[in-house]
Amino acid sequence: MGEREDGVTMFGRRWGYVAMLVAVAALALGGCIPTGPTYPVDFYHEMHYTQMYRAYEPPRLAPPDEAVPTTGRAPRYTAAEAAQLRNPLQPTPANLERARALYRRDCATCHGAEGKGNGIISAYFQTARAPTPVDFASERVRNRTDGEVWHYIGQGIGLMPPFENLLGEEERWLLVLAIREMGGPGR
Ligand code: HEC
Repeated sequence: MGEREDGVTMFGRRWGYVAMLVAVAALALGGCIPTGPTYPVDFYHEMHYTQMYRAYEPPRLAPPDEAVPTTGRAPRYTAAEAAQLRNPLQPTPANLERARALYRRDCATCHGAEGKGNGIISAYFQTARAPTPVDFASERVRNRTDGEVWHYIGQGIGLMPPFENLLGEEERWLLVLAIREMGGPGR
């Protein structure tokens, strides 16, 4: 009886030592944390393999197939394609009021308060012998379709800067209304 009990105890103790050795070895291996992002032996993988993002990493998750962008860039048109576009806005008093305000803010410095191409910056173009801001009543602008005018406001032309990143699509259509109000109808 005594012997048997001893035997059981010996057996239990031996496994106890083994378990302790394994635990110490595991701690030793797992605990060796180098400066890198993972352990040399991947004993505790913790959260290293999650869908996390690192700094400056672009998103990796693909949008669902049926997703439709609600923000971002509008389609790019060539000048020929844009020429076919029609102004979706009507020259209502409210639209014209917004259009004139936009024009005063972004265009009048070059094109002049009445759109005659004689804004305060126009003189610098003359001094530099560069093509001056256009008169909206000129043949050049009257021979454009609304879509073309809209296109050049967005893309810029010559020394006129592109406005597509500053003005939304609708704002550029409003400006077409302002231009036609000042210079007369287009083609
Ligand atoms: C920095 C001065 C400047 C500003 C600001 C400017 N323009 Fe111009 N714009 C010009 C010049 C210069 C031209 C002629 C470019 C050329 O012929 O090379 C021009 C041309 C145009 C044309 C004629 C395009 C064509 O070929 O038919 C339109 C329309 C026009 N601008 C509208 C606008 C509108 C609308 C704004 C305000 C959002 C604006 N511009 C702001 C300088 C400017």
